[in-house]
Formats: sequence, structure tokens, C-alpha cells
Amino acid sequence: MEVLRIKAIDTHPIRHKMLRPNGTIEDCIFQGDGDELTFHLGAFVDKKLVSVASFYFEKHPNFQDPYQFRLRGMATLPDFQGLGLSSALLRTAFPVIKQNQCTLLWCNAREKALGFYSKVGFAPSGDIFTIPQIGKHQLMSIKID
Ligand SMILES: CC(C)(COP(=O)(O)OP(=O)(O)OC[C@H]1O[C@@H](n2cnc3c(N)ncnc32)[C@H](O)[C@@H]1OP(=O)(O)O)[C@@H](O)C(=O)NCCC(=O)NCCS
Repeated sequence: MEVLRIKAIDTHPIRHKMLRPNGTIEDCIFQGDGDELTFHLGAFVDKKLVSVASFYFEKHPNFQDPYQFRLRGMATLPDFQGLGLSSALLRTAFPVIKQNQCTLLWCNAREKALGFYSKVGFAPSGDIFTIPQIGKHQLMSIKID
């Protein structure tokens, strides 16, 4: 397995299949995908891209840390889940986030993925809320030291 930086467009097939199955490819373009500090990571198995995650310099008003990153578009193809690939993407991202003077990573976690985020060290904040068309979510965050 290899973790590499990828382009936003490379994330689209996995975002589409795993996160926007009823949407169009345009729905797989996220705001800020091309921003200067945004970075996208991919895990490759036998040269095939099988897991993706994207990181955006974006502050959530609920958290005090002045500089924060947001995690979006985290997904692993079904045949490759449970192998530690998403965790590997996060481990790669943490030092990059730290280099950017940021001390917190947050995400709006899907209800089905809460177990994953807890396992890798994220803590929940506030109440469960619904994002239309997508479902129930929970704000989660992890300190980056
Ligand atoms: C959630 C998801 C990204 C996890 O990716 P993954 O590559 O399978 O994650 P990892 O293998 O790194 O998992 C790390 C640990 O969390 C556990 N885990 C993974 N998904 C879990 C879940 N839904 N609930 C509880 N634990 C989970 C793994 O078993 C593993 O545990 P271990 O360290 O004891 O072996 C993946 O299941 C997925 O793509 N789901 C569909 C898309 C999605 O919901 N994305 C999140 C959007 S907010």
C-alpha cells in the first residue's frame, strides 16, 4: 500500500460511488477543492486508487482553535475497507496539517461512520443533525499536537 498526494479530480470516481451514488459527477466537486491549502490524499493498492480523503483549511465556529483543517470526502472502496487505509491517510495528513500551524481537524461525520472516527481518535461535539439528501451527521474533531 502506498499513500500519495492526488488531484481533486482523481477523488471523483470514489466520491461518486461511495458518497454521492445518486448524484452526478458535479456533485462530487466540493467547495474549496482547488484552494491553495487544500490537499487530497489517496491510498493505492497494486497501483489502484482505492481510498481517498481531502483536507481543507477551514474553521468551524464551534471550535476555538484559530487555525483548523476540515476533513471531507473520506471513503474506501468496499473490497478494501477494514484494512487500515483511511487510518493511513489520516496519519499522513496530521503532520501536513501541523506544518500549516493548525491544531485541530474536524469533520461532519456520517452516522454510519461514527464508529470509525471514534476508533481513530475523533471526539463528538453537539447534537446529531441532518444534511438533506445525505442523512444524519455528527460534528467530530481531533486535536493535532
Ligand atoms: C468509514 C470508512 C471511510 C473507513 O475506511 P477504512 O479504510 O475501512 O478504515 P480503516 O480500515 O482505516 O479503519 C480503522 C479502524 O476503524 C474500524 N472501522 C472502520 N469503519 C468502521 C465503522 N463504520 N464502525 C466502527 N469501526 C469501524 C476498522 O475496523 C479499524 O479498526 P481496527 O483498527 O481495530 O482494525 C469506510 O468504511 C467507508 O468508505 N465508508 C463509506 C463512506 C463513508 O461513510 N465515509 C465517511 C463519510 S463521513
